[in-house]
Amino acid sequence: MQKILVAGPTFPEVIDRLKQYFEVDWNEGNVLTGDELVQRLLDKDGAMTAGDPITAAVLAAAPRLRVVSNMAVGFNNFDIAAFNAVNVLGTNTPDVLNESVADFGWALMMAAARRVTESEHWLRAGKWQKFQYDAFLGTDIQGSTLGIVGMGRIGQALARRARGFNMRVVYHNRTRVAPQIEAELNAEYASKEQLLRCADHVVLVLPYTPESRHTIGAAELAQMKPTATLTNIARGGIVDDTALAEALRTRRIGAAGLDVFEGEPRVHPDLLTVPNVVLTPHIASATEATRRAMANLAADNLIAGLGEGPQAGRPPNPINPGVLGKARS
Ligand code: GLV
Repeated sequence: MQKILVAGPTFPEVIDRLKQYFEVDWNEGNVLTGDELVQRLLDKDGAMTAGDPITAAVLAAAPRLRVVSNMAVGFNNFDIAAFNAVNVLGTNTPDVLNESVADFGWALMMAAARRVTESEHWLRAGKWQKFQYDAFLGTDIQGSTLGIVGMGRIGQALARRARGFNMRVVYHNRTRVAPQIEAELNAEYASKEQLLRCADHVVLVLPYTPESRHTIGAAELAQMKPTATLTNIARGGIVDDTALAEALRTRRIGAAGLDVFEGEPRVHPDLLTVPNVVLTPHIASATEATRRAMANLAADNLIAGLGEGPQAGRPPNPINPGVLGKARS
């Protein structure tokens, strides 16, 4: 039997599925350090990861490894050039999380705009004495302009929800989406600067790449409306968190909602002290049903990628399909 590592927590039913095909080493506990990960991968043919960095050095240390299946749609933890160099297949879990992540983007955006967590902290601190007409005044969602940066599948799911709130939708993307999708979503293409200048609520949902690092920094924050909100459900590093903390502190923008952070799980200390930011620990896809679907899809990818099961050799979500059928080198 081939051997696999499941590098982090998942559902026991998924482990049971994997055990039908593989000898499974399951790390149910804390995040593995880089050295621990390498140690556990030395004799493995495949692995299921959730954000664990798989670098050229890790691949070199694990000469049997042929497939690494990420339990996430984002795969910036994989060095895909290194995967290609030694014919290791990477897979991810697109689509099954689109709607849950879009829901959460709205939750963060609305919480930031309407000061939900800020006012809750105040209430919990026992500061509420009487109904206050002018307390916690926020900004409206309905009738406002939503700016979506990254119009992939999740961006489109965000845009679809804007109809119910009677919003104007503008978007920016590397490539313009098809005219029929723009028409269906009632979404207008804009340059990044145009979007930042006109949007009341900016939501980031683009993949992390070296090019998208600091898509939003001090210069971009300076282009936003002083009342605007910024929501990041994409990846840490797409926003310059130091610049954002400063823009929030000085009220250069109104508020922010952040599910992802540069260098997470570390959070920039200034973000922890400014009141006008809603902070969540990378949970945008974390509903019971969606996380189960992601784990099962990751298992499908690993099983098929390692040549087992009904889809043997045809994993549903190869990131680098060019290596399929090639021997590990
Ligand atoms: C979570 O962040 C994912 O990429 O699925």
